Amino acid sequence: MGDAVVLCVGLVCLDIINVVDQYPLEDSDTRCVSQRWQRGGNASNSCSVLSLLGTNTSFMGSISPGPVSDFIVADLRRLCVGSELVWVEGSTPVACCVVCPMNGTRTVVLHDTNLPDVSLEDFSKIDLRQFHWIHFEGRNASEQTRMIQYVALWNASVPEEDHITVSVEIEKTREELYVLFNMADVVFVSKDVAQSLGFESARSAVTGLYPRVRPGCTLICAWAELGADANKDGVLFHSPAFPPEKLIDTLGAGDTFNAAVIHTLSTGTSGLQEALLFGCCVAGAKCGFQGYEEIA
Ligand code: ADP
Ligand code: FRU
Repeated sequence: MGDAVVLCVGLVCLDIINVVDQYPLEDSDTRCVSQRWQRGGNASNSCSVLSLLGTNTSFMGSISPGPVSDFIVADLRRLCVGSELVWVEGSTPVACCVVCPMNGTRTVVLHDTNLPDVSLEDFSKIDLRQFHWIHFEGRNASEQTRMIQYVALWNASVPEEDHITVSVEIEKTREELYVLFNMADVVFVSKDVAQSLGFESARSAVTGLYPRVRPGCTLICAWAELGADANKDGVLFHSPAFPPEKLIDTLGAGDTFNAAVIHTLSTGTSGLQEALLFGCCVAGAKCGFQGYEEIA
């Protein structure tokens, strides 16, 4: 399994991050403590974390030529993340992020420029032989359903040991994403989605939403400072959170959690309990520093 690669498909954007000591008032004019550019987007952040943890990884997503993509491409290289970029005309998405360590909050305003998302046609051009795990950040769900069916056909044509595991993240409360529940081997459902569907804890979410996933699927729900829960065929797992001494930067905690879980499960030698614990450990530690690099 040494050089097998985890592919993450989804958003890449530029995050312009302002660190503030107090959350600004609307219509005020204040100074921030520091400002930085950081490559962002859930799938792209998860790639950074996978790579920092020592898993070979590649990112697939849409991007437009220009100064923002120059920064993104250089940063993917810097963190040894491979890329299957789909180049389209338009503008690469940019997010303005306000990170407020005092309150432990991250406020994001994303200009999702609606570049055409990765299509089955784009996806069918990549060489699936290099991948043993493909993670989809739920976005263009009906097209992603077709890509996942394409992976299923691929799996049916290769020996069992070459099968690709598929995971999906259902993070946004958009009804059309919910078809993805029964499409994957591993499903990450967010606290937001769980709450919008009427669940008040991670445990009740992984229990109540289990009828929506396939038999044998691993359903995982992270719940910020309460850790995370999982359900596989009715067997329930829980990990507490591991808060850092001081909250510094919670931006991308969920993407970090997903990556650390995938990192653990994709070795094929560790169990779900270990993966949840590791996910919460790495995500908790990440909340204690800016960005991702100190994960390594
Ligand atoms: P996001 O809002 O980025 O999607 P979540 O709130 O779902 O992230 O959190 C993902 C994981 O990150 C949690 O399971 C937990 O382990 C860790 N985490 C997030 N916020 C905190 C926090 N305040 N303290 C400790 N751990 C946290
Ligand atoms: C963090 C993140 C940021 C990005 C935003 C997009 O989870 O991926 O990097 O700006 O969310 O929703």
